[in-house]
Amino acid sequence: MLKVENLSVRYGAVAAVRDLSLSVGQGELIALLGPNGAGKSSTINALTGLVTPAAGRIVLDGVDISRSRTEDRIRGGLTSTPEGRHIFANLTVAENLRLGAAIRRDAKGVRQDIDRFLALFPVLSERYSQAAGTLSGGEQQMLAISRSLMSRPKLLLLDEPSLGLAPKIVIQIFDFIGQLKAEGLTLLLVEQNARQALRFADRVYVMSSGTLRFDGPPTGLADEHGLLNLYIGG
Ligand SMILES: Nc1ncnc2c1ncn2[C@@H]1O[C@H](COP(=O)(O)OP(=O)(O)OP(=O)(O)O)[C@@H](O)[C@H]1O
Ligand SMILES: [Mg+2]
Repeated sequence: MLKVENLSVRYGAVAAVRDLSLSVGQGELIALLGPNGAGKSSTINALTGLVTPAAGRIVLDGVDISRSRTEDRIRGGLTSTPEGRHIFANLTVAENLRLGAAIRRDAKGVRQDIDRFLALFPVLSERYSQAAGTLSGGEQQMLAISRSLMSRPKLLLLDEPSLGLAPKIVIQIFDFIGQLKAEGLTLLLVEQNARQALRFADRVYVMSSGTLRFDGPPTGLADEHGLLNLYIGG
């Protein structure tokens, strides 16, 4: 579904991603792990079009999208939930959800999807007409993921969904991610919480300092002596 070939991302003199190649197959959940500054978010931002690659190709369903506008990538089925959630704090929960569906014209389907997320996360229903900024961190993350799903993506990129959340909420978020995978959604998951990410991952990529260090099944990562500690920190 997604093929990344020899991707490089630079910020002036800083090489954030160097010659990265990876693939995500239909229905897979791929974990992209690595320590702070590894280049994980830079990779995601290149995939969504937030940054322009210095080199390399990004191919979605056979179409080179390396230089496509973000909106066209969303239309192509690729949506992200960025690091730090980025919900619109001054808009209501309802408005945030509807914004996620901005590219859709099927009003009835949009309403059905909203109802689904309200049933799944009752707190979003209780706070439907309140400013999203009044939600707790965990509730905002549930809203952020729900909003991303409102575009009905084929491939969802999640950048550190567990960041800054209490352990109980982290488990809840990952259970939801597991449910999305079971429903057939294809996912690329960036995480520092390796333990949780590896619960559902079909394959794992590990980066550090912009470079790919490991590519294989989660069990391979456990076998490779010291890799978890060295690159992920536990
Ligand atoms: N806008 C920017 N301008 C300059 N340098 C940047 C910019 N964004 C990221 N960098 C640098 O690029 C490198 C990779 O950063 P990136 O945010 O991709 O890492 P990350 O793996 O997502 O880290 P974290 O786990 O902390 O989110 C870092 O050295 C970072 O300081
Ligand atoms: Mg990051």
